[in-house]
Formats: sequence, structure tokens, C-alpha cells
Amino acid sequence: MKGVILAGGSGTRLHPLTRITNKHLLPIYDRPMISYAIEALVNAGICEVMLVTGGTHAGEFLRLLGNGHEYGLDRLLYAYQDRPGGIAEALGLAERFAGDDPVMVMLADNIVESSLRPTVERFEDQLTGARIVLSEVDDPAHLRNLGVPELDSEGRVVRIVEKPETPASAYAVTGIYCYEPGVFGVIETLEPSGRGELEITDVNNFYVARGDMDYDVRQGFWGDAGESIDAYYAVNDHVRAHGANNG
Ligand code: G1P
Repeated sequence: MKGVILAGGSGTRLHPLTRITNKHLLPIYDRPMISYAIEALVNAGICEVMLVTGGTHAGEFLRLLGNGHEYGLDRLLYAYQDRPGGIAEALGLAERFAGDDPVMVMLADNIVESSLRPTVERFEDQLTGARIVLSEVDDPAHLRNLGVPELDSEGRVVRIVEKPETPASAYAVTGIYCYEPGVFGVIETLEPSGRGELEITDVNNFYVARGDMDYDVRQGFWGDAGESIDAYYAVNDHVRAHGANNG
């Protein structure tokens, strides 16, 4: 399994901080945000990663992460997204890197407390389709900024709604996804959403419709540090008090 870390976007929800740097280079406690996603994939047993970024600060990632060896990676490759065209478009840039391997995709503003290894192992058994990671979020106001699954009485995902007015469950779809190699063909069929982007939720709903979507529910802390300035500080406070990627 290979890893793809998505660290592009314009980070408008954290303006003006993100006018002067890439969101994923902002500090989370004592390290740049991006280092936590690298560490999470390494802890999950992934040794080859492609980092997709864009904008005017892309070079800083190379300066910080180099060839990735210091972080425990065998290979760290980089791709450049010309314009913020959405998460699914950014993932599309990793097609040749992924080749015939399944991928674990992680949004670089997502911070987790415990290991992603169980999800990697279950996806290796699952073989086809997609696997997402859910996290229980009690506050509907918070869920309105995220992807939210609707579940049937047997707990199967019926659909995922991006930033719903009325959340259909108390779970967020985290920015951690496992895909079969065929995902790149799915991305090619997508149409831009209302905000002009190729949405990862559309990729996920493709697999839901095909009956090829499974999920894990995250235990322990999960946070999206890019959701809002308050979420950014909540993640900082949590990591400062409890750490992240604690095994
Ligand atoms: C993205 C996804 C959303 C998911 C979130 C998790 O949202 O579109 O479904 O819940 O990441 O971090 P975005 O951060 O692009 O608004």
C-alpha cells in the first residue's frame, strides 16, 4: 500500500495566516502540521509516499521534509497542483505513482491520536473498492463543515453528504481514505461541483453506489485543523496536552 498526502488548497478558512504560507506548514504545537500526516502513514506501515501540494510555498515542503528518510520513509515524491481544483483532482496527480497499488490518502490537516494501521490491514483484506474512516462528532454545527454519512439500520453507508445543512448522523467522514488502484478511473468521470472542484465525496459516493464501501470508526481523538480557526486551536491544544500518533 502506498500513501498520498494532500497538502494543497488555498486555506481560505485560516486567512490571513494562510496568505503568507501554506496551511500545512503552520505549527501544530511544536512542529509544522504536515509532519503529523507523514508520521501517521509511517506508523501505519507505509514506506512510499507522494505529497501533493501547490501555490507559492511548495518549495518549503522539500526544505522541511527532503527525501523523507529522517521521517522513516523509503521514498518521498512530490507532485505540484497548478490550481486549487479540489481534493479528488489533487489525488489524480498521484496516478502514475500509485501504479497497480492501493493507496491510503490523507489530508494533511487531519491529526489523529492513534494508529491507522488497523485500517490499512482491513483494507488489505478488503482488496477492492474504498474504505473511509469515520469519527463521532456530537456537535451538528461542526458537522455542517464536514462530509457526513447517512447510515441504514444495519450500519451500511447509504450516501455521504458534503457539508449538510441537516447532518444525517453524528459521524464525520475524516480525511483518511483507502482506495483500490481503479480510483483514478473514477476521478476521470467526475464533474466539478458548485464550488468548481472535483470532490472526494463524489468519489466516495461512487463506491457507495457500487456497494463497495466499508468504514472504520476512529477511536481516540481526530481533528481537522483546517476547518476553522477555532478547530485549528482546538487541535493545537489537544496535541500539546496529549500528543498525536501515539500508537
Ligand atoms: C474535506 C472533505 C470532507 C471531510 C473533511 C475532513 O473537507 O471534503 O468530506 O469531512 O475534508 O477533514 P474540506 O476540508 O475540503 O472542507
